Amino acid sequence: MIRTTILLASIAFAAAPSFAEGDAAAGAASYATCVACHGDNGQGNKAMSAPRINHLEQVYVAAQLNKFRSGVRGGQGATPTAMTMAPMAAVLADDAAVANVAAYIAGLESPASAASVEGDATMGADYYNQFCGACHGAGAVGNPALNSPRLAGGDDWYLEAQLLAFRSGARGAHPDDKTGKQMRAMAMILPDEQAVRDVVAYLHGLGE
Ligand code: HEC
Ligand code: HEC
Repeated sequence: MIRTTILLASIAFAAAPSFAEGDAAAGAASYATCVACHGDNGQGNKAMSAPRINHLEQVYVAAQLNKFRSGVRGGQGATPTAMTMAPMAAVLADDAAVANVAAYIAGLESPASAASVEGDATMGADYYNQFCGACHGAGAVGNPALNSPRLAGGDDWYLEAQLLAFRSGARGAHPDDKTGKQMRAMAMILPDEQAVRDVVAYLHGLGE
């Protein structure tokens, strides 16, 4: 009951972002900067801690790039990997450049990466249905109206790292990070790090 109340309060707090469509052809040139880490198809590169990004909604990619540009994500107190990404987003000159590169990324394709995190997917399904599905949707396809990204198809090592970052406050603790704060509260609901691995194993099993 308490959990349900927290959940509903958080959802009511969310507001859908305003969003420019973006020109994928114009974004292709900016994407050249990103290839070294995220790969030519946005498939990601675990060795660089750079995640797959081509499965994400354009609106979420643009929102995160803007957070990196302003230091709301990847600023003081963030993980080293987030601090690596922040200056990369800063090369995008303005909102139009962000929208364009996000549009370009949305058109890229690659298969999901192999499983690398061990967890109990059955336990993970329970956690997901109880605590996560209301925002991230059935099948974890995401819900842009709640600013909640797609998780299905994401790299398991990246999803694990982000959940740990939310739990520690390395992500989502910035005073201007409204959506990060919501997610932070949700990540804290998972009882321990084994539960994090369990829910990630479940998410990876969903595939695309
Ligand atoms: C030097 C390597 C590097 C380069 C170059 C780079 N990135 Fe990243 N990117 C990362 C890392 C590492 C992360 C993971 C950040 C974290 O751990 O929070 C990341 C995260 C992201 C995310 C967040 C994904 C999510 O699911 O929230 C987006 C979006 C992104 N990068 C887009 C880009 C774009 C667009 C460019 C080019 C303008 C770019 N990156 C260039 C390393 C890089
Ligand atoms: C109240 C709605 C809500 C609930 C419930 C919720 N999330 Fe989230 N989640 C979000 C939002 C909003 C974001 C985007 C945060 C941001 O803007 O940085 C997010 C982001 C994430 C990310 C980062 C994805 C990426 O690409 O970087 C992961 C992983 C995640 N959520 C997993 C979960 C899990 C697992 C649960 C259940 C324990 C959960 N979420 C419950 C709203 C929610």
